[in-house]
Amino acid sequence: MIELRDIANVRLGTRDLDGAERFGADILGLQPILRGEDRLYLRADWRHHSLSYFLGDPSESTVAFELKDWSALDAAQAELEAAAIPCGRGTSEEAADRFVHDFVWFIDPTGNRYEVVVRPFEANRPYHPNRPTGITGLGHVGMNTTDPKRDQEFWLTHFNARISDWIGPAPLMRINPRHHQIALFPTTKPGVQHINHQVESIDDLLKAAYFLQDKQVRIVFGPGRHATSGGYFLYFEGHDGFTFEYSTSDRMVIEGDGDYRPRQFAMENESFCLFGAKPDILEFRR
Ligand SMILES: [Fe+2]
Repeated sequence: MIELRDIANVRLGTRDLDGAERFGADILGLQPILRGEDRLYLRADWRHHSLSYFLGDPSESTVAFELKDWSALDAAQAELEAAAIPCGRGTSEEAADRFVHDFVWFIDPTGNRYEVVVRPFEANRPYHPNRPTGITGLGHVGMNTTDPKRDQEFWLTHFNARISDWIGPAPLMRINPRHHQIALFPTTKPGVQHINHQVESIDDLLKAAYFLQDKQVRIVFGPGRHATSGGYFLYFEGHDGFTFEYSTSDRMVIEGDGDYRPRQFAMENESFCLFGAKPDILEFRR
């Protein structure tokens, strides 16, 4: 069992780093902290970065999770190898590029690439966005799956993931008390389905909704409230067509609370939004 602590960062390929920087800083509201010829790092909280871009193919994106025990990376790699999961150790150059001490990459059965990292670098200085977004950090990712049952088993078998709820066949899973850090949405190919940052309050969400409208950014869902996590949300279209989300007040599931059971929600609009907002997101529609 590989014990994960939290989601660490998302790493996206792009052909247009200038566009990624404009979106990341001016629209999403992260702080660009490092820009090279083929790299861009954006900060959201106490971490060195929560989002990074490399010059390359947007379909070659990676999600990194921090291992709970910094000394357990060898054991994690051994477990992945024993299960014949495609995986490998990052080189020291690759670790430096990710601002982590060490990492192991692996591929899930759908073909999504992930990394487990140890000793990710701290920010050293406070996060200063260009505008007051209320962002408190990276929250979770939605990932594509070509077989939700198979991929759910993958996470439950090899990692400390637990189901918080399902919407239709899509599992929302947690590796710490916040309602979910990873959710799997059925589709036909691998990929990052959406990237969530948490914000402090519903005021931040509503301010963002007007800000995005003013900037002519396409809002694809919300403002609304999820029936599952209880979180208030807003989804919008980002650079390279990736979907980004802000949410706040996501429910906490207390570990060891034997009374909690994962709930099954129907695959219908009301499961995604209690208020009746309709998603313009393919994977959220049946
Ligand atoms: Fe989400």
